[in-house]
Amino acid sequence: PFKRLADYLPPAFSIESTDLTFELDPVNTVVTAELQIRRLDSKVVELCLQGQQLELLSVQYKGHLLSADDYQLDDKSLRLTVQDDRFSLVIKTRLQPQANTALEGLYYANNTFCTQCEAEGFQRITYYLDRPDVLSLFSSSLIADPQQYPFLLSNGNKVEQRELTDGRRLVRWQDPFPKPCYLFALVAGDFDTLSSEYQTASGRTVQLEFYVEKGQGSKASFALESLKRAMRWDEERFGLEYDLERYMVVAVDFFNMGAMENKGLNVFNSKYVLVSEASATDKDFFNVESIIGHEYFHNWTGNRVTCRDWFQLSLKEGLTVFRDQEFSRDMGSATVNRIDAVQVIRTAQFAEDASPMAHPIRPEQVMEMNNFYTVTVYDKGAEVIRMLHTLLGEAGFQAGMRLYFQRHDGQAVTCDDFVQAMQDANQQDLTAFRRWYQQSGTPVLSVKRSYDADRRQLTLTLQQKTPPTADQAQKQPLVLPIRYQLLGSKRSSSELFVMTSAQASLTFDNVEATALPVVLEDFSAPVRLQHDYSDAELLRIATEASNGFARWDALQSCWLGWLQQAVAKGESYELPEGLFDFYQQLLHQPLTDLALTAELLKVPDYAVFAENFSPIPVDAILDAITDFRRQLSQRLAGAWLHCYQQQRQTTPDYHETNVGQRALKNRCLEFLALLPECNKTVLEQQYRNANTMTDQLAALKAAQQGGYPGFHTLMEDFGKAWQHDVLVLDKWFGLHASNPDPAVFAQIEALCQHDKFSWQNPNRVRAVFHAFTMLNPGQFHRLDGRGYALLTDTVIQLDGINPQVAARLVTPLLSWKRFDTERQSLLRAALERLADRAGISDDVFEKVSKALAS
Ligand code: ARG
Ligand code: ZN
Repeated sequence: PFKRLADYLPPAFSIESTDLTFELDPVNTVVTAELQIRRLDSKVVELCLQGQQLELLSVQYKGHLLSADDYQLDDKSLRLTVQDDRFSLVIKTRLQPQANTALEGLYYANNTFCTQCEAEGFQRITYYLDRPDVLSLFSSSLIADPQQYPFLLSNGNKVEQRELTDGRRLVRWQDPFPKPCYLFALVAGDFDTLSSEYQTASGRTVQLEFYVEKGQGSKASFALESLKRAMRWDEERFGLEYDLERYMVVAVDFFNMGAMENKGLNVFNSKYVLVSEASATDKDFFNVESIIGHEYFHNWTGNRVTCRDWFQLSLKEGLTVFRDQEFSRDMGSATVNRIDAVQVIRTAQFAEDASPMAHPIRPEQVMEMNNFYTVTVYDKGAEVIRMLHTLLGEAGFQAGMRLYFQRHDGQAVTCDDFVQAMQDANQQDLTAFRRWYQQSGTPVLSVKRSYDADRRQLTLTLQQKTPPTADQAQKQPLVLPIRYQLLGSKRSSSELFVMTSAQASLTFDNVEATALPVVLEDFSAPVRLQHDYSDAELLRIATEASNGFARWDALQSCWLGWLQQAVAKGESYELPEGLFDFYQQLLHQPLTDLALTAELLKVPDYAVFAENFSPIPVDAILDAITDFRRQLSQRLAGAWLHCYQQQRQTTPDYHETNVGQRALKNRCLEFLALLPECNKTVLEQQYRNANTMTDQLAALKAAQQGGYPGFHTLMEDFGKAWQHDVLVLDKWFGLHASNPDPAVFAQIEALCQHDKFSWQNPNRVRAVFHAFTMLNPGQFHRLDGRGYALLTDTVIQLDGINPQVAARLVTPLLSWKRFDTERQSLLRAALERLADRAGISDDVFEKVSKALAS
């Protein structure tokens, strides 16, 4: 059942044009697809179109109706013999959008018709060459009852609208840009709209239109403004302009992912469009801006130049994540942005590399493509692009981008084509660099120092080694751009060393014994760094380095060291005085970047620590974190309160300074909540007087983590107050499910009965179960197996409804080998229970079977 990159063959047919007519009805939608097809290879006589979950009504070949023995039909394809080099096909299919709970293809939920075609959802609409290297000119006619569905939207330009004699309305759309079918979209429903205009750099006017749930219009204005910022930014930084007259964004409640870049008609999960200070956190605002940017940037990196096949997914996703990260960096705290991106790599991506699902950013074999929209393809993919940027510099990188578009605009290409453009534009040989595309796993980079006092010479010896992964035993050295700085020397600026082999050394002449190299600034390569720095040296970097990221990173190393000692000792480890001094100082005199200050004052989360162990000592890590937090709260009680009070008044709007202030204030609150003598007043006050959702939620979170007895009363109040807003209720669901109390099991059962909970809605399901599995490690990893059993039951229940979401949820069960023997056998049993289910989806099966084989 695997598809392989090595088996790629170019298509034997092209579909010059695709004209679709939809007669929309929730239980009986008829789709007529009129395809103009050209045979590219005249030796090929069979045309095989993919199709799934379709009822075929009729097929016409060159205007002649075919009978059932003129073609072969099975549950995956429609095959016919063709003699002509050019011919038309008219295919009628019947769909049941309302029964489509997988939310792939055309579905109907919340009184809205909506499509999601990437990766292979278009074949659930009609029989087609559902592959990204078949580019076609699309037009579509949508027919529906105008009372119920006043807005009928699709890609491109609206070319016709008329009322039919039966009272239905027809709206016709034409997309002037050829595109693969995964970028097709239609939406029909009733919405609030918000629109505006944008003047491109070259002076064209673009209509911007947002379509959101009735009554929510005002919550879309931040997204609209974000879109304008993204459009301007892409013109200024990349010289790229929008190419259609109209850019539409629709927000829907039922959506499997974050958003989708369909040409001219983005579809978004409403969570990433609708925000207001009262109902959304600063993090939500950040996500809206970044995802709006991401989908917009896809218009060039993804749509104008698309992927040849799905193994090349990182071609568009890695590059577009890189672009959205650069955009976000320019919109807020650059340092904290980098910290957040690095945390994703160090926790989720390193964990994926160490799991049975390990794969290179360009995977080589796939059972279900939807399983490969991963943190490896997206985020590690973005790190690989970032390394190219580091190696070539901004000017060289932009020259490469220009050549890439010059060569490939309008084409479906490979990751190799991209690197080749970078290579040719810079006359640099990137052969060795390309290994990043084929090698999975996380390199370990170790750094050793030696100082020759007579010669006043410091030598750094670097070694890289990538341990084997589940998918690949042999590893080769990679090209690692290493940014470094030497503290306490004249050369204090940041420099670049490019490591190309397994070993290398760097020497510094004429330096003091106290000179301290800061290696891997800004996480210039996605590797695990090993070094032998002392606490004192790390704390020195944390205080003296000019690079904010390096300061934070040195502190991360400290934390990891202290935690390892605590785990080894099996009892309380006393944090060093140097840390208390450093924190005291920060709390009395925060850095200008308040958000960075808040990051520096954080004890890393469970996930950050866990990633550094095998087997993972779950309980010891949790105990040590609790103990660290207790020590900090008690020793610095006065300082937390002082800083908290300094930052208490904040203006609600989402602006860098306010965001930083809130982050710092709420960090202090977290520690104050651990102090019984003051938590009640502070928590209750902040909860009651909050002028933003950020502050209110922070109060609840702190109350939960601090074990505050009034927590449940506050939760009740919050749940009542936000009954009407499902996006806020999701936060409430999540807080319940992440409660470290054993009562969480009864609580989750109650949540699943809540009248706003729905197994059909991915946001609701994720709100509860993502929180439970990822933010409640103590209960999820219980030694009686209750947590694993709950997740297994949930995956089974969900798999019958929405396999894609079920397969995402199953991830925490896969890495069973990383735990102690007791948990291993519990997890193994859970995986076996899933693998043995009759009718399990390919999505879940691919992951579970890999895990069991590991
Ligand atoms: N291309 C979309 C984005 O990155 C995500 C689509 C995910 N689709 C899927 N089937 N997993 O914005
Ligand atoms: Zn994307």
